[in-house]
Amino acid sequence: MTSPRLERMKDAVRVLYDRNRQRGTAAWCGRDYDFVCPSMGTYPFQWFWDSCFHAVALSHIDLERARIEIRSLLANAQPDGFVAHVTFWQREKYEDMLATYAIAYRTPYLSDCIQPPLLAEAVQAAARGEGGAAFLAEVLPATRRYYDWLDRERDPDRDGLIATLQPDESGLDHAPKYDTYLGIAGLAHEEFTAAWERVAGPYAEVGRDPDRMFGLDLFVVEDMLVNSIYAENERVLGELLASTGDTAGADEMRRRARRTTTALVDKCYDRDAGLFFDLAGADEEMLRTNSISSLMPLLLPDLPEPIAASLIDHLEDPREYSAPFPVPSVAMNAPSFSAGPVGKLVWRGPSWINTNWYLSRGLRRHGRSDLAAVIEDRSARLVEEHGFREYYNPLTGEGAGAHDFSWTALALDMLARREGLPSPGKGEGQG
Ligand code: GLC
Repeated sequence: MTSPRLERMKDAVRVLYDRNRQRGTAAWCGRDYDFVCPSMGTYPFQWFWDSCFHAVALSHIDLERARIEIRSLLANAQPDGFVAHVTFWQREKYEDMLATYAIAYRTPYLSDCIQPPLLAEAVQAAARGEGGAAFLAEVLPATRRYYDWLDRERDPDRDGLIATLQPDESGLDHAPKYDTYLGIAGLAHEEFTAAWERVAGPYAEVGRDPDRMFGLDLFVVEDMLVNSIYAENERVLGELLASTGDTAGADEMRRRARRTTTALVDKCYDRDAGLFFDLAGADEEMLRTNSISSLMPLLLPDLPEPIAASLIDHLEDPREYSAPFPVPSVAMNAPSFSAGPVGKLVWRGPSWINTNWYLSRGLRRHGRSDLAAVIEDRSARLVEEHGFREYYNPLTGEGAGAHDFSWTALALDMLARREGLPSPGKGEGQG
């Protein structure tokens, strides 16, 4: 028996995902598309990590649509394995919107940029239930190619941590952790556009060749959110490969997952602060802003317990992260924290449901189901009281940013978890 609360959330997600569904045929590649866009008002295209979250939410209401979401995401995977962070399927309809995007293009219809790599988790969610084995057989080769591409092209120093080449690759576009590194002096949107141009201009001059972009050393960040998700997904891909009998592939992915986790712990954990910090530039200098990224390795089941305990201390500290509506994306006592929206800048303090989803799972894995339940419950309450917004004020709960924002539907997966329903990622409750 599921609770009326869960059923109401499912109904709300169905309505949201019907409203934000995009279907058609794209003349530019001759393929059909069918996906959920992040928000009709501001983001009508297919974004990589958004779509992966959508597949997780869809797996609770319509498994076939979860699979279709992933098929659309992988339809334009490149022969080398790359999958773009945005596919502009119906670009012609929204040409005016593109004028305000700061995005580098691989083709007019594909961005030349990555996003946090949670494809394996999304595939795992969509492969549950009937027909799951056939679906896995269909999408695993492209999934594997994508992680091989990341390993080959995005880890030039071969330490197991992948690097982002521009801020939006972390999905945390205007996060204050980049301010000093990017030479950003104020909060005017033009400051951020100028910083983007200082990076994107020289990249264009070297033809956006990855080796030469790394060589320029203008923005090279081994990001904690990206790499926590990377390690988790290498592990999950190992599980998926094992389930299809590919033991060599499974062993390789598990080895890579351990390597990434070891590098996180050895190179990015600051024992004095008890936090993880991104590494920037060829010199791998720590970007010491106390933000949600600093807590993300909590997701990893094999994170040493004393380190997990330290991250949890920060999460429970009312001066930092224990807000009425957790979890703020920047520690509340950091100078750059802002509870409400800062113009159109994102990730400068408000609480987001996708990072709550990851942190609550990490808490369960490290024996703190009690605190996980609080985050899950508050996340669902934000949706129930303020609708599916892009982000929320951690002090008041007020919603901000885009309306009818699709990944906020992860609240459904959080409620399902609390009721012990099958959710992506087996055995998570046994922390
Ligand atoms: C913003 C977010 C990014 C997200 C995109 C679409 O750019 O920072 O993470 O993927 O919107 O929702």
